[in-house]
Order: sequence, then structure tokens, then C-alpha cells
Amino acid sequence: MKTLRLQLRFLVPLLLTLTVAALVALPLMDRLTLRWFARDLNTRDALVANTLSDAINEAQADGKSWRIQSLFDRAVQDERLVAIALCGPDGEMLRRTEGYPKTLGCTRARELSDQTVPRLLLESGSVHVGVQPLKGDDVDGASLVMLHDMSFIDKRSQDTRRYLVGFIVLLGVAVALITVVVAQISWRGWVSGMRGILRGEGLLVPLLPPPELQPFASEVRARLRDLEDEYRRGLDLVTGWNPERLRSLLLTQLRGDQVIVVSNREPYLHERLDDGQVIVRRPASGLVTAVEPVMRACSGTWIAHGSGSADRDFVDAHDRIAVPPGTNEYSLRRVWLTKEEEEGYYNGFANEGLWPLCHVAHVRPVFRESDWEMYKHVNERFADAVAAEARGDDPVVLVQDYHFALLPAMIRERLPRATILTFWHIPWPNPESFGICPWRREILQGMLGSTILGFHTRFHCKNFIETVDRSLEARIEHEHSTISFHDKETLVESYPISIDWPEGDRGWPSIEECRRRVFDRLGLGPFTILAVGVDRFDYTKGILERLHAVERLLEKYPDWVGKFVFVQVAAPTRSALEEYRAFQQRIHSVTDRINTRYGQPGYQPVRLLAEHHDHEAVNELFRAAHICVVTSLHDGMNLVSKEFVAARDDEQGVLVLSRFAGAARELSEALIVNPYHVEETADALHRAATMPAAEQRERMASLRMTVRENNVFRWAGRMLADAGRYRLRERIAARVQRHTNSEPDEKTLHA
Ligand code: F6P
Repeated sequence: MKTLRLQLRFLVPLLLTLTVAALVALPLMDRLTLRWFARDLNTRDALVANTLSDAINEAQADGKSWRIQSLFDRAVQDERLVAIALCGPDGEMLRRTEGYPKTLGCTRARELSDQTVPRLLLESGSVHVGVQPLKGDDVDGASLVMLHDMSFIDKRSQDTRRYLVGFIVLLGVAVALITVVVAQISWRGWVSGMRGILRGEGLLVPLLPPPELQPFASEVRARLRDLEDEYRRGLDLVTGWNPERLRSLLLTQLRGDQVIVVSNREPYLHERLDDGQVIVRRPASGLVTAVEPVMRACSGTWIAHGSGSADRDFVDAHDRIAVPPGTNEYSLRRVWLTKEEEEGYYNGFANEGLWPLCHVAHVRPVFRESDWEMYKHVNERFADAVAAEARGDDPVVLVQDYHFALLPAMIRERLPRATILTFWHIPWPNPESFGICPWRREILQGMLGSTILGFHTRFHCKNFIETVDRSLEARIEHEHSTISFHDKETLVESYPISIDWPEGDRGWPSIEECRRRVFDRLGLGPFTILAVGVDRFDYTKGILERLHAVERLLEKYPDWVGKFVFVQVAAPTRSALEEYRAFQQRIHSVTDRINTRYGQPGYQPVRLLAEHHDHEAVNELFRAAHICVVTSLHDGMNLVSKEFVAARDDEQGVLVLSRFAGAARELSEALIVNPYHVEETADALHRAATMPAAEQRERMASLRMTVRENNVFRWAGRMLADAGRYRLRERIAARVQRHTNSEPDEKTLHA
């Protein structure tokens, strides 16, 4: 096909040139050469007439007109002069040579000689007819008729024509070759220009569009960007996100393409209890809380570490299981890790290295070479799993969290056309803090394999972009928040994560009923003010600072002793790590100390429930409480705060929230505190405990509106809409690329 197009591009101009030559150039050339020769012959006739004039005049004067005949006979010995005749003043023929045609009288000869090309066709060939007046007294009015052989003109014309045809053919070939080359160059230039524009490259990048496209390029690029920005701003205003809207977005903008989620933590664990019974457990994880409803809405495949003790007993031959149990809405693919892999990748590099590094929570990160090697190895294993689960070559892959910083680039190697959305659930520190990581460049390069890289807040995006700026040779476009590295563009955007807002009748017990149950269970007096904290048992959550604030509250406002109870639910987590064990022990001993200091018979101010609570139990606790305390020292978002708000459909209850949690940027009607400031937090607890119902309602109603609108479907919807827009741009670019590789066809060229 390609050769045929090339041949056509060559042959068409060649044939055109030859046709033009045949129809126009050759006849024109013939006429021209004939005229040139006719003019030549006229001059020659005049010369001959001049030469003979005197001799004829003399012969006439002497009355020896017979000499004229011999004069003529001598003259026609010239090979080109065929015949000659003398015409009198009245047009009568006085003399003629032998070869002069009898039929050609003097009048006819004069008529012919007046034509542009005076030509007469004889049996012997064509002759030129020239009539020249003679000068002299005795030949006044007489004229000479000269017939010149024109066969040499025909011969020369043929020669000229041959040369001309040769020249035209050569010209045709040259024109055809030039056409091929120019078309090639200008098409490639045009295409690369357009591709550059479509990729959103600036005019100052190495791959410049050709000069003639530059004004057009910048105009198109600016318009495209404006439209994209406008579109994204418009999408930000869209309200009413729910599973149906998300599903329809997947169908319209992602054409129902396959969605694959990758996370370390799985959404459902099968655990075998001591009595041999197997239970299905939902882990305490903000990530799972957020991603699970999205997966239910869009089906697809979730790839995660199979960490439950009975997980292997519940998968098929491909290590897959349909979940949620009972409704089977999507597929969970479990990846098995050895003890060593889990130790190096999860406990080591992820939780002893990246976790404290990103949280800047005064726990020193530990970076071991062996952990790093295992982290790389496990990321490779998950990349293989993604490639194995992908049904086509361009799935939408949602990579979750700091366990998989290298995964985006690894997936990109295996599936270059995949759309990779990476979401970093934890904070991103400033460049100086991140700079202590020995493998910072590798981590950044791995993450920049993503099409879209999401953080909870603009602040984390800014930190990430600055970190890249310090560590890599990358092109950063702040205006559009993009980073181009190795010709690959990544959009760095903030997508505040959220929860699945409970709509309609949830069948929850009333607030009074929940309060009664919880108070009974914990043995609390009816007038107790109940404050709760619900966290993984993690040093970043500010549990210690919270306890200090409770202690200070009881010290500063002694009236609360006996009336104020703080319940901390602390889900066991990462207890294989020394840092966590030490922290958990410390919390236990501080709890004991406060209880010893302020406790009374039947009253303990702090209740530490260091065990896993399922969603229903946590919800019941939230509905029973008067206050929810979230005092993270550094937190990407913190979904506990949003879940508390969602649980309070009575529009009562007060949220005390750390300014260092991403959620503080959205939930400004909470009582915002600096958890490191014990006094401030204790005062906030007092204010919360004494807040009038009307103020509680006003604050809670506003918080509920915010969380309801900014729910998890909006989080996923904004990200997937950006992915859809990106995929559309890629498809256009791929189409242009295809044309570049396969040469433009007639239709494309004319389009
Ligand atoms: O906060 C980061 C995060 O990965 C969350 O997304 C998740 O809620 C939590 O950590 C779970 O930690 P782990 O899986 O180690 O128990």
C-alpha cells in the first residue's frame, strides 16, 4: 500500500508533465521554430534579391535579358534555393528556372509570401515562397520569386522536437522526484507539528512544529488547554455524584474500558479463627473505605496482597475470588507474598522508610538496601499481575499508595498504552525532607510513569512538583500542573478523597438507641459527655497528644472529672514493627496513668479499645458520641472525620480536627486545633463539651453538606474524567501517528 502510494506520488506528476508537453509545448515549439526559419529565409531572400538586383538591372538595360536566365540557373545551384522567377510590374511572369512550378503565378506567389509562414506543398516536398522587389530604373516594379527548400527545416524541427521531448521527460522525472520529497517532508513536518500540539508540547521544546505551523500550533494548543481547564473547572462544579453517575461516566468517557485497581491491602480478608471457623473481615483502611464503593460501581479487577490466613482456600485456579461475598460485584485477584517479601517490601521499605519519611512525624525513617531490593522485586511482581489481568493493551489502572511507587513505570513498560492513575494516600513532604531518601530519583521516576498522579491536597501536589524540580531533569508546566519526563507527560492534581455518603433509609438505630447501647456496654452514667477517637493504632494519628489534651482538660476544668469520658478505638496495625509496638505500649501506660490520676470507682476517664471494630460498631459509637476527636500529626486526608459527620443525621455532635489532616481544608466548621498545642486542644474539648445545640446544628449541617457533595464518587469521577479526557487526546495522537507511519492517503491529505 505504502509502495503504491509512493509510486502514485511519482507517476502522477510525471504523466502530468508529459501530457502538458504533448498538448502544449511541442506544437508551440513547432510553430516557433518554423517562424524562426521562415524569418531566416526571408532575410536570405532579401540578400539574394539584392545580390541579383544590379545584374538583372544591367541585363535589362543592355537588352540582354537572356543573361538573366543564366544568372538564375547559377543561383539555383545553391542546394536550398529550389527555383527562382522574375515577375514584371503587372504581375506577369517574365522568366523562371526549370524547377519553378507552372501552377504558381506571380499573384498567387505574392499572396503566399504575405502569410506568416509562406509555405507551399509540392510533390518533392514543402517550399518557402519569398517575394522580393528589385531595385533599379530598368526593373522598377519587378520582383523576384524565390522558392527555398524547407525539408531541412522539417529535419531540424524533428531534431529539436527529439531534444525537447528528452528534456521534458527529464524535467518530468525531476518534478516528480521533487514532489515526492516535498510531500514527504511537509507531511512529516505537519504531522509532527500536530502531534506536538496534541501532546501539549510548548513551542520551545526540541520537537518544534515547522515554522509555518507555529502560530497555528500555539493557538490550537492554547485553545485545547483552555477547553480542558474549562471542562475540569466545570466538572468541579458538578454536584450529585453517585454510583450511577460514575457508571455512566465510565461508559461514556472510558467506553466501558477495563478498570484494574492495585493496592497492598485487600478489601476482604478470609481469616481462620482459633476454633477453625473462617470469617470475612474488612480491614481498617481509609484506602479500602474509599476505593471499595468505586469498584462496586464499575466492576473490574482489584489486585492486592492476599494477607488473610484462610485467603488461599477461597480463590479459584487463577487466584481470583468474586466479592463482596454474596453480591459478587467485582473480581479480587490475590497476590501471594513470602514472609521475606512481606518483611522487606511492606514492613521494611514501605512502613519503616516511606511512611515516616512522608509523614514527617518525628520517627526516623529507616532505609535498608535489602528492603529496597525487595520493594523493587514486589513491585515487579504486581506489575506482572496487572499485565496478566489486563484483557486489552490499554486498561485503566488505578495504582494505590506508597507501597507501589515504582509500579507505574513498570506497568508502562509492559502496557505502554495503559492509562495509569496513581493515588498517593499519604502526605508528600517538602523537597528537603524527601531528599534524605537514598533512592529518591528512582521513586520519582517510577511515579512519573503515571498518566495522572493524585494527592489529597494542592499543598502535597506543590511539594511533589518541587521535589521533582530539585531531583530530575524534567519539564514542569506550573500553569497546567504537568510534568514531562522522558517525553511522557504526567498530570499532578489534587483529588480530595472521601466516603460513600449514606443516602436514604440506612436502617440505622436511632441516636438514643445507639447511645443507650454504647453507654450500657461501657458502663457510662447517663449524663456523661462522650468523646471518641477511632484510628489505626499508629503514631501519626496523634493519639498520645489527644490523651495529653484529655488529661489537661480534667486538670484545667475539674468539673469534668466523673462526667467526661474519652473512648479510643485503636485498630491493631503493623505490630511486627518495633516502633509501633513501643508506641502502643506507651499509649497503654499513659492511659493507665490518666485513669489512675482521675479515675473513681465506676469511672475511668479514658477507655482504650485496642481491637478491630467493624463498620457497624464504629458507626454506632459515632452516633452515641457527643464529640469526635481527630488529632493526626500529619494525615493525607483522614476519613474518620468524614465518617463521623456522615453518621450524624441528627445534626448534633462536634468534630475536633487537627489542622494537619488534609480534611481540615474542607471541614472548616469543625473546631480546628494544633494537636501539638495541648492547651489549645484541651480548650477545644471543653468548648465542644459545652457547645449549645443550635451551634452544633449549624456547624454539623454545613459539614454534612460538604461531605455529601464531595463524596467518594466525585473523587473517583474527577480522576476518571481526567483519564477519559487524556485517553481521547492519546487516541487522536495515535491516529495522527498511524498516518505518519503509513504515509498520508489521498483522503487525509485533502482533509
Ligand atoms: O493511610 C495510608 C494507608 O495506606 C491507607 O490508605 C490505609 O488506610 C492505611 O494506610 C492502611 O495501612 P495498612 O494497610 O498498613 O494497615
